[in-house]
Amino acid sequence: MEPLKQENRVFNPPADFVKSAAIPGMEAYKKLCDEANSDYDGFWGRLAKENIYWKKPFTKVLDESKAPFYKWFEDGTTNASYNCLDRQVEAGLGDKTAIIFEADDGTVTKVTYKEMLERVCKMANALRKMGVKSGDSVIIYMAMTIEGIVAMQACARIGAIHSVVFGGFSAQALRDRIMDVGAVAVITADGQFRGGKALPLKAICDEALSTGECPKVKHVIVSKRTGTDVAMQAGRDVWMQEIVANEATTCEPEWVSAEHPLFILYTSGSTGKPKGVQHSTGGYLLWAILTMKWTFDIKPNDVFWCTADIGWVTGHSYITYGPLAVGATEIVFEGVPTYPNAGRFWDMIQKHKATIFYTAPTAIRSLIKASSNDQAVHPKSYDLSSLRLLGSVGEPINPEAWMWYYENVGGSRCPIADTFWQTETGGHMISPLPGATPMIPGSCTLPLPGIQAAIVDEAGVDVPNGQGGILVVKRPWPSMIRTIWNDPDRFVKSYFPEELGGTLYLAGDGAIRNKDTGYFTITGRIDDVLNVSGHRMGTMEIESCLVANPLVAEAAVVGRPDELTGEAICVFVVLKGGRPTGEEAKKVATELRNWVGKEIGPIAKPKDVRFGDNLPKTRSGKIMRRLLRVIAKGEEVTQDTSTLENPHILDQLKESL
Ligand code: WT7
Repeated sequence: MEPLKQENRVFNPPADFVKSAAIPGMEAYKKLCDEANSDYDGFWGRLAKENIYWKKPFTKVLDESKAPFYKWFEDGTTNASYNCLDRQVEAGLGDKTAIIFEADDGTVTKVTYKEMLERVCKMANALRKMGVKSGDSVIIYMAMTIEGIVAMQACARIGAIHSVVFGGFSAQALRDRIMDVGAVAVITADGQFRGGKALPLKAICDEALSTGECPKVKHVIVSKRTGTDVAMQAGRDVWMQEIVANEATTCEPEWVSAEHPLFILYTSGSTGKPKGVQHSTGGYLLWAILTMKWTFDIKPNDVFWCTADIGWVTGHSYITYGPLAVGATEIVFEGVPTYPNAGRFWDMIQKHKATIFYTAPTAIRSLIKASSNDQAVHPKSYDLSSLRLLGSVGEPINPEAWMWYYENVGGSRCPIADTFWQTETGGHMISPLPGATPMIPGSCTLPLPGIQAAIVDEAGVDVPNGQGGILVVKRPWPSMIRTIWNDPDRFVKSYFPEELGGTLYLAGDGAIRNKDTGYFTITGRIDDVLNVSGHRMGTMEIESCLVANPLVAEAAVVGRPDELTGEAICVFVVLKGGRPTGEEAKKVATELRNWVGKEIGPIAKPKDVRFGDNLPKTRSGKIMRRLLRVIAKGEEVTQDTSTLENPHILDQLKESL
């Protein structure tokens, strides 16, 4: 595996940043690491006591007796919503702005901690009244709105397990998740605004529920957002705004065990259907809080902005839970970075005086492109002097994009936290600490204190620095995935495989540590998972979707590098009716793209479609994906193809549509 092109300049944390940082300098960082190494339980126990309100304190930190089903702080009871909201109000922050919401059309709404608490309590009361109980699961299919966060927090308040489905997913994808999670209710909206357009949500929800495969769903709660006409089914569908109207503004939280599931979030794996990643309450919340303090160095006057969507884990940890649990003011944005123009992010930073800005490399790259010949939307045309810290997440950030972000957005003054983590890890794992770690563009640098990240070979043995290998975590940590919902065996097999000895957490990424610095650079997934614009897509998922189309006999999906989206989806298809050419081929390619868009969601639409009479296979019938990757890149096939049963089809597959 090739490491990313390396940039070797070192960027030190600015001196005045270090002075007031939560972790001021490498000595302080090392001290925390040493504390974890010398007394693992003591380290985590201390932090959990200091950072979380426990209704009933825990007596045991880590229970490894059923490893890898680790349990943290299990006999302690707490509540995530209480920690995020009541705690701030009780500390005198009731009138502090919790959320600055900017709608797609630019309308700004501010919500204080006190108001947020009242809204969450009302919704929690309404849910309880409907019969939603602790341990029930609730699907949330909403866009980026205050109501979306209220819905999540309200579930947490009553101990219901939320499972947010990204608003861009299709009816089929939504139905699969409703069924797998066993939801008793779905919370949605009439529609969502994105880039000046009103897009449907409730209609898709109706389609998802129309097959009768989700009999457990007793309630559909609809938030009014776009005002679009929607069909309301009597006895099942209610308006969110109506059910909360007469509810009390207080609501006793459900005090749950630290191990009580807080949420389930579906993500793509290398095989089969998406996995329901289950997180806990206590351990998850602890890490959301600590990473807000350590990675983001959050301070009382900060205006924090994470541009992710609540449909992804980044939105859970760094919009719904982390910022509120530390009493921060955060920006929540409904729209897209390119509407009304590609200066939207910079305009919002300027307007709201954002101090910490956290976004994805794919967004940075598209804004570099958009501003390269349009000065009006270039970050230099805005006053971004409020910024003091930048963050990156979702995929490796290429050194060129890092430099542009550093110089043009951060004014060469703001550290960049290149945060490596995953849906399964709950929060950051490897990242520079802004007041401590010297940064090297393209490297996520060092593990956070307490995180035992390492690189091993295929037998699970440590490899020396400078030699690439498989990224693992050697010890459990509080915010780790607890299980795959309904599939504990798959949890063990996917994350603690026998081949590596059964005790190492397998991240699924390749990585290399620098010989001199020990810094980590992530080299990309080592399984059949693609990362398209920071979205995780399983190749098998797209393949099964394609072969479900009546025209398709066989399909193979691979990724290829793409300047803008990081990776692009490239599909190789064999049609039942033979290989199409010319206009016909173009027509079918469009049809298949739309099919995938409809079945999974627009983010899964293949970029390249190629047709062949067959796929390149070995004589034993195995599809040679490595060859397909070469073709997808547009490179000449130099490998030995003599084991191929049908070498002539390579020429057909080179033709991209
Ligand atoms: C995969 C996880 C983490 C929240 C958003 C994505 C890739 C993520 C980085 C980074 C290099 C990164 C990895 C990882 N990834 N952040 N800073 N540098 N790669 O969560 O959908 O669970 O995807 O995203 O490949 O395994 P996710």
